[in-house]
Amino acid sequence: MTQQNEKKPMDMEFELKAALKCSATLEGSVSQADIDELVASCNTNLLKRGAPPGCGAEIVKWNVAEDKIKLKIVSDRFVRAHDALLRLKKEFGKLLGKHRIGIRGIEIEKYKIALDWGEEEGLRVRNLPFVKEIKQEKGSLELLLDVDESALDKRIPDRLIRLLEDKIDAARWKGKSEHWELLFESEKKPYHFDKDPTEEMLKRGWLQHAAGRGQYVYGPQLTKIFRALEKILLDELLTPLGYNEMIFPKFVAWDVWKRSGHAKGIYPEAYYVCTPKTRDPEYWEDVMDYFKVTNEVPLDMIMGKIENVGGMCYAQCPPFWVFLQGKIMPDEILPIYVFDRSGTSYRYESGGLHGIERLDEFHRVEVLWMGTKQQTIEHAKELQKRYRTIFHDILDIEWREAWVTPWFMAQEGKAGLAELREVGTTDYEAVLPYSGKWLEFQNVSVNGNKYPKGFSVKLQSGEELWSGCSGVGLERWAAVFLAQKGLDAENWPEKFSSVVGELPEVFKFL
Ligand code: SER
Ligand code: ZN
Repeated sequence: MTQQNEKKPMDMEFELKAALKCSATLEGSVSQADIDELVASCNTNLLKRGAPPGCGAEIVKWNVAEDKIKLKIVSDRFVRAHDALLRLKKEFGKLLGKHRIGIRGIEIEKYKIALDWGEEEGLRVRNLPFVKEIKQEKGSLELLLDVDESALDKRIPDRLIRLLEDKIDAARWKGKSEHWELLFESEKKPYHFDKDPTEEMLKRGWLQHAAGRGQYVYGPQLTKIFRALEKILLDELLTPLGYNEMIFPKFVAWDVWKRSGHAKGIYPEAYYVCTPKTRDPEYWEDVMDYFKVTNEVPLDMIMGKIENVGGMCYAQCPPFWVFLQGKIMPDEILPIYVFDRSGTSYRYESGGLHGIERLDEFHRVEVLWMGTKQQTIEHAKELQKRYRTIFHDILDIEWREAWVTPWFMAQEGKAGLAELREVGTTDYEAVLPYSGKWLEFQNVSVNGNKYPKGFSVKLQSGEELWSGCSGVGLERWAAVFLAQKGLDAENWPEKFSSVVGELPEVFKFL
């Protein structure tokens, strides 16, 4: 956590050659002396404004040719050269206005940014958007930008610098172990099982691998266990706390992930969703024909005929926020408690797949609450208390709780911790006796005002709206419970058994 605070600002030098393109030739109307005078005054005032003494930007070369005022600006990080240029455009506009000449636009001839890259020698940057050339030499990183006026308006140079700072941050965190701080540890519990529960359940026919990767078809027995776990969550926590059920979308459009921050980092793990470019059957006839004569699905042909529109549910709560997007709510309806259990979540786990513990397709109840800052924090504590009762009194498992990198930062590809201790994620982990490894099986997070801000949700009083969420993975709860207690009902705690009842035997195979 301290690394972030110790970070000192990067040294930067900017060199920008640009021209202000005017609506008419300046020759004969604006004198060189007028221009020289304006440049001198900008160099002392306008381009130093907001910077510490001796710092800021400076026009080091200028000349007027027909309808163009050509400028070469150098600067430090205090008044970045592109900001200087935008200030100059206005100021020159005033002078030219007196001569009934306007500024039509800005042409960028060359924009070079040199950054101090001293400590980051190990970090190589090969490609960046809006950059045509990168020179990385010991101690410095030089970028030749490929930007026009609209890119300056969109603050692309600032965002590039921000991106590089993020890359440095990420590199600093890499190699360090992930943030993890023990908050609570339950008492030790006797284990009744030392095998991998998924393997055992496969033998008993409680589930089967599905056709997709990291996906199972759950048989009646395991499904009954999932439903029992869900009922415990409902009876012990959601219902007594006044939760209402909602149905959140399971296809997530890009606009949601832009607002939630997932668009910054979700790419290697998303399940992408595509729609046909047209639903005209004629457009698809070649694909249909190909399948009919080969019995193979022609993926390459399909790829050319579809377009990506988003992905499958990943974090579960982000698409909820569209319900409130742009709305103002009266304070007196707070706090609000809702949950969703309407469908699956997807993560491309690649090589990490393992039984029902790590899947590409999984089932989760997403618990979501919002209120004032104080209500949100208080409610997280109430949830934590109730979860402990469930794990201690009903499931009788051995678990621990740890303070970790918040899920919403991790999912944006960020490391570290949220700035304040009030915002963040508590992970719940349980030991799997068969491997000795700890498995994260749920979390409780206070997300601060991140979501209300991202989706422009406001309170009537103007006070900040906060929210939190807690994901209860049914496969993970089951994996932990079954790994510690085994598959035989006689070893299960009485309270759990009474909820689950008899496990049905439906299928037999020859
Ligand atoms: N949305 C949170 C997460 O993805 C809780 O489920 O971890
Ligand atoms: Zn969530």
